[in-house]
Amino acid sequence: MYYLSASILSADFANLADQIRQAEDAGVDWIHIDVMDGHFVPNITMGPFIVETCRRITSLPLDVHLMIEKPENHIQSFINAGANWVSIHIEGNSNVHRTLQVIQSQDAKAGIVLNPGTPAQAIEAVLPFTDLVLVMTVNPGFSGQSFIPQMVEKISSIKKMMRKTNPDAILQVDGGINPQNISAVAQAGANCFVAATAIFKHPQGIAEGVNSLRKQLQQ
Ligand code: DX5
Ligand code: ZN
Repeated sequence: MYYLSASILSADFANLADQIRQAEDAGVDWIHIDVMDGHFVPNITMGPFIVETCRRITSLPLDVHLMIEKPENHIQSFINAGANWVSIHIEGNSNVHRTLQVIQSQDAKAGIVLNPGTPAQAIEAVLPFTDLVLVMTVNPGFSGQSFIPQMVEKISSIKKMMRKTNPDAILQVDGGINPQNISAVAQAGANCFVAATAIFKHPQGIAEGVNSLRKQLQQ
């Protein structure tokens, strides 16, 4: 089973409800919400308020990617707002294991994220305690960046580690995913694909953006 998670970072926020509904009608599985604080990454985006807005628009799982300092201080607000999946970065977080447990104790699913510069081994100790691993295929901060092809090998290594210690966890990829690279990433072991530009900025519209990704996964 492959999951497509539509990142609203490239959506038209003047028409957010309509854009999310179009993505849902086209068959995306999850909605991905990129939370940035201007410290962990250079950009500032959205907070629990937008998660709560999305929750009123759709019943699809809300996949919240926290690119913030001290994520442990905000877990509860995001889950109260309706987050189903909450992912935190391994970089710069002092007690990742505890934060993952806090997320799970609130009936949400917990994910661990690695930046392109972080080796696969960095997540080995917490791997058994996660529901999802997110391998960044761009440096976090902005949508519309180019996929870093060297990450395919890292996806394979992480998949190998997961087979041993956590075979049921989801392996998600995020950054520059498009119809040209999605099959290679799936072959390397990913089963959940985040896309912003390829869905919301597709020249033929959102439905075509979703279809063109899905088509590559069916071949
Ligand atoms: C990047 C975000 C991504 C981003 C993906 O920091 O985590 O989710 O929105 O955008 P595209 O698909 O355009 O690379
Ligand atoms: Zn993201």
